[in-house]
Amino acid sequence: MSAIAAYPDYSSSINHVPAVPETYNYRVVRQFAIMTVVWGIVGMLVGVYIAAELIWPDLSLHLPWLGYGRLRPLHTNAVIFAFGGCALMASSYYVVQRTCQTRLLSDRLASFHFWGWQLVIVLAAITLPLGYTSSKEYAELEWPIDILIAVVWVAYAINFFGTLAIRRVRHIYVANWFFGAFVLTVAILHIVNSAEIPVSMWKSYSAYAGVQDAMVQWWYGHNAVGFFLTAGFLGMMYYFIPKQAGRPVYSYRLSVVHFWALIFTYMWAGPHHLHFTALPDWTQSIGMVFSLILLAPSWGGMINGIMTLSGAWDQLRTDPILKFLVVSVSFYGMSTFEGPMMSIKTVNALSHYTDWTIGHVHSGALGWVAMISIGSMYYLIPRLFGLQQMYSIKAISLHFWVTTIGIVLYIASMWIAGVMEGLMWRAMNPDGTLTYAFVEVVKATYPYYFIRLLGGAIVFSGMLIMAWNVWKTVSRGRPYDAPIPALQAVHA
Ligand code: HEM
Ligand code: HEM
Repeated sequence: MSAIAAYPDYSSSINHVPAVPETYNYRVVRQFAIMTVVWGIVGMLVGVYIAAELIWPDLSLHLPWLGYGRLRPLHTNAVIFAFGGCALMASSYYVVQRTCQTRLLSDRLASFHFWGWQLVIVLAAITLPLGYTSSKEYAELEWPIDILIAVVWVAYAINFFGTLAIRRVRHIYVANWFFGAFVLTVAILHIVNSAEIPVSMWKSYSAYAGVQDAMVQWWYGHNAVGFFLTAGFLGMMYYFIPKQAGRPVYSYRLSVVHFWALIFTYMWAGPHHLHFTALPDWTQSIGMVFSLILLAPSWGGMINGIMTLSGAWDQLRTDPILKFLVVSVSFYGMSTFEGPMMSIKTVNALSHYTDWTIGHVHSGALGWVAMISIGSMYYLIPRLFGLQQMYSIKAISLHFWVTTIGIVLYIASMWIAGVMEGLMWRAMNPDGTLTYAFVEVVKATYPYYFIRLLGGAIVFSGMLIMAWNVWKTVSRGRPYDAPIPALQAVHA
């Protein structure tokens, strides 16, 4: 409807007319949507726990599997791949069906994808605390799970692109371009970076050595940010903001330009994670230059998302779902300004290894990724259960404020701690000795770690409000699969 109503009516140029199944496959969307909430709670709880462990290390109870080193990758995997992944999968399956006016290519593949992905998550939750790890950040899982991920991902790709292939409208709505880039690129990143030689059932070594290994890893790592944590969520932005605001996308042309510019530029920026390492200096400089260029397409996307509200700003006063969506885009703008700045070598010399990076990560991960996911789930969940809206709009509003305050406490404390750490580490006395011992710097961070813990706990409490609201909503409705409209009603 309104999201793409301003665009040409393609009903006259239908390129493929399959026998029309009656309904969309909302079942898999429902499954992934509910698991988004579940894994969001689990992942953030682990985040709060490790934030507390940084203040009180004894919280590990001296059990290896509760130790910080093992729970930290559990947190990152749970929030990125379980919470973020399920949100992306729910929304991409919903959007591709609605905008292509067709049911998914295969219900069986969708089911295999859902259960396969949950199995990957459960295996991660077991093996990481047990200490099985490839030791590559964001790619810690060992080789048997890597193979499972590849198989499940291929099933996802076949189903997503297969659905595009059997679409009943000629146009491919821009959100699908972003979802498509996410699905395709993550497959390539995962397969290339996970090339490894198994030496036993749960141990393998990377196929690459030394600095090449680092380079491949951060080519993967940065593009995981670009394609897992960004492109797919931009797909969400391009569908759910126009839908919720009842406005067309501000500039469709800008969306296409920013798509190509973004995916081209991201590929080259990875070396900014390896400044001042054994990586050749010119490679680091290329990473820095492309990171600076990346500001332009990133802000193109942000402007497009926010300006979609032009003429409908007043809705922000009353609609908490729109607040989630729009504030998430603002955080996106903020973190994609900060990132290029941090990629400048002289800035990175200060920020690297400090909590500034952690602040940056969470302004992107909580502010952008989590908020847009939460907003999109509030849009989706009632519709998947045949209802007009969530059980309590007031609870959504409360969730919004709680999340925003929690995130601001989290990232502001980490920024201050980070700059302080960087300055203290490099402070020198006139005779050339260091002004501060390392442990003094650690002690100085404690107040900020408390504020981060408080902020994290507040964000987590918001997720519990969401769980209650979702529970109430789901128990009032019943699973509902919307009918696919007749051909002349092309707009999703
Ligand atoms: C134009 C966009 C961006 C650029 C150029 C950029 C740049 C950077 C830089 C320079 C670092 C620090 C590297 C280091 O010192 O080790 C970094 C770290 C990181 N950024 Fe960004 N960033 C961008 C956007 C984002 C967004 C939107 C997110 C999340 C949604 C994000 C997630 C991360 C993560 C997870 C790390 C930590 C990686 C690690 O060391 O484990 N970034 N980024
Ligand atoms: C309640 C919310 C959260 C809390 C309390 C929390 C807490 C933490 C803590 C304590 C760390 C370790 C920092 C360190 O090593 O110094 C961390 C790392 C990380 N978290 Fe979170 N987190 C939360 C939510 C999220 C979400 C929603 C995401 C992603 C969608 C996320 C992504 C990450 C990433 C990528 C890292 C690794 C950063 C790096 O290596 O530079 N977190 N988190």
